[in-house]
Amino acid sequence: MTNHSFEDDRRNFLLTIAGSIAALAAGSLPARAQPAGDPPLSLSTIGAGREGGALGALFIKAGHRVMFSSRHPDTLKGLVDELGPLARAGTVAEAVEFGNVVMVVVPYTAMEQIGKDYGNVLAKKVLVIDVSNPIARRDGEEIVKRVDELGGAGLATAKLLPGVHIVRAFNAINYAKLSADAHRQGELVGVPIAGDDPHAVDIASSLIREIGFDPVLIGGLAMGKYLVPGTPLGGEHTAGEIRQIVTNLH
Ligand SMILES: NC(=O)c1ccc[n+]([C@@H]2O[C@H](COP(=O)([O-])OP(=O)(O)OC[C@H]3O[C@@H](n4cnc5c(N)ncnc54)[C@H](OP(=O)(O)O)[C@@H]3O)[C@@H](O)[C@H]2O)c1
Repeated sequence: MTNHSFEDDRRNFLLTIAGSIAALAAGSLPARAQPAGDPPLSLSTIGAGREGGALGALFIKAGHRVMFSSRHPDTLKGLVDELGPLARAGTVAEAVEFGNVVMVVVPYTAMEQIGKDYGNVLAKKVLVIDVSNPIARRDGEEIVKRVDELGGAGLATAKLLPGVHIVRAFNAINYAKLSADAHRQGELVGVPIAGDDPHAVDIASSLIREIGFDPVLIGGLAMGKYLVPGTPLGGEHTAGEIRQIVTNLH
């Protein structure tokens, strides 16, 4: 049963990636929003599973170079081959070195070790996007309790990755929806974000616009506790809806 649903997820993931590739083949690359003259950003993902893979594919579609990482990078060969020359695979250490911007898209249980192993290097990055969530049924009740005691996912990540310019984003948009939601017709899908560093927030906002979403800063990392599945901000909302939901959170 579990295997079956994992296989379904895997198939959906590959379909999501295939959709991105089809758009690439159709020549539908949107122009990069980065101001002319700025050096292009390199992005990395720590975690290239369902969400990390789908997000990385969107950044490739937007014209960025992306290194996807795994503790077993050989397993990513199919993914990077399909995504083309802007995609590459590496170890976690290689990805941490490679990206100007690093996305952390792992089960939250991995965050502490990532902080110990790579915290010093991550602290030198202009932006680390924290997409990870503590989820009781996957990560255990204990870690969820610990994160709550630290003030929720935003402040907990800041504690585990000290000195890192963190912005939480994309935490509660399902990987299978990302490709279709990007550059949606009509009003864009909003992405609520939380971060304490204004420069990191600016870069995150610009990147989010480039891949076809509308960023909405809901506050500092203390607000990151609302950026997890199961809160009123979870799922897809327009920017206006997000602002309305946030007024009711206070
Ligand atoms: N799935 C979604 O729709 C979704 C949406 C929003 C947010 N998220 C959040 O995103 C995170 C990842 O979810 P997912 O669904 O993408 O999970 P997933 O498909 O199981 O992928 C998890 C990834 O994390 C990596 N990883 C695990 N432990 C690691 C460690 N100690 N060091 C480095 N990498 C490690 C794995 O790489 P290896 O190859 O090395 O095992 C794998 O690539 C979770 O926190 C989840 O809550 C998921």
